[in-house]
Amino acid sequence: MPAQPESNVLGIDNISVESSSPSGGVVSLWTINRPDKLNALNNEVNTAIKAACAWAEEEESVRVIIVTGAPPNTPPEGKRSKPNSFVAGADISEFKGKSSTEIRPIFDDNVWEYIWNLSKPTIAMIDGFALGGGSELALSCDLRIATPRSNFGTPEINLGLIPGGGGTQRLCRLLGYGKAMEMVMSGEMVDGTEAHRIGLVNHLVEPDELHQKVMSIAENLAQKSPYTIRVAKSAVRAALEKPFSSGILAERDLFCALFDTADMEIGVDAFLNRETPEWKGA
Ligand code: COA
Repeated sequence: MPAQPESNVLGIDNISVESSSPSGGVVSLWTINRPDKLNALNNEVNTAIKAACAWAEEEESVRVIIVTGAPPNTPPEGKRSKPNSFVAGADISEFKGKSSTEIRPIFDDNVWEYIWNLSKPTIAMIDGFALGGGSELALSCDLRIATPRSNFGTPEINLGLIPGGGGTQRLCRLLGYGKAMEMVMSGEMVDGTEAHRIGLVNHLVEPDELHQKVMSIAENLAQKSPYTIRVAKSAVRAALEKPFSSGILAERDLFCALFDTADMEIGVDAFLNRETPEWKGA
């Protein structure tokens, strides 16, 4: 197993899930910690997230990953507080002076794909700005839970840019072509309530309930077979990649293959015997 990575800009808090199955499972809560820069994704944060992804993929105890942004620091006397942020984007200061050949390798090996490619369930816990690369980070997670005071947007157009972390494609898939086009071309933000209405977030909760709500969703996922949940994720993902009839076939292949797993036997027996399944994870 790789050692858990350490970083000043990414806190990793592993929360035990009593009811996890197999036992010993944790929900891994990742907090991006640059609140003075609204948790913008600079090179240091990106490197830390990539290392965390490599670790979490290998670490069996990690069943679910939550990604969030640190709350604002208390401001110095007489100064205004920084606003709440999930992530206010890629760090714009790192764009300055770069040419296409310099930016290309950074975006070829990008943090959004690392999150997207995790085989375990991922949840974005959002309270505040989720802009540009921050909205793309949320879109790279499987679920998004947000507060009404959050704001989502792809303001890159105002920098003479477009989204570069998969935003155009993932917004189209999640919201449909029309709304994605409007957001990308206008650069305008939608608040949490509107984001919930259009399906950009799965659940909308008040700030003081956010952590508990996200944890209860994560704990529920941590009680499923870790093997079966990966298969479920890959089956749903197939819908993004394949034509409909091939996707139906891919699902059937995965479904049938599960009949050769221990966890299918365990799950069916547990149902028939009115017991709680104790998964093997295989
Ligand atoms: N990259 C780098 N720094 C950023 C940043 C980003 N994406 N977003 C915010 N910051 C920094 C600001 O420069 C400021 O730093 P400073 O206090 O050292 O000057 C700090 O975070 C606070 O931001 P500020 O702009 O003062 O807060 P605000 O409440 O006035 O405005 C926003 C909040 C989110 C509207 C504004 O920060 C913003 O538009 N950010 C950029 C969003 C963006 O274009 N994202 C896409 C990038 S690809």
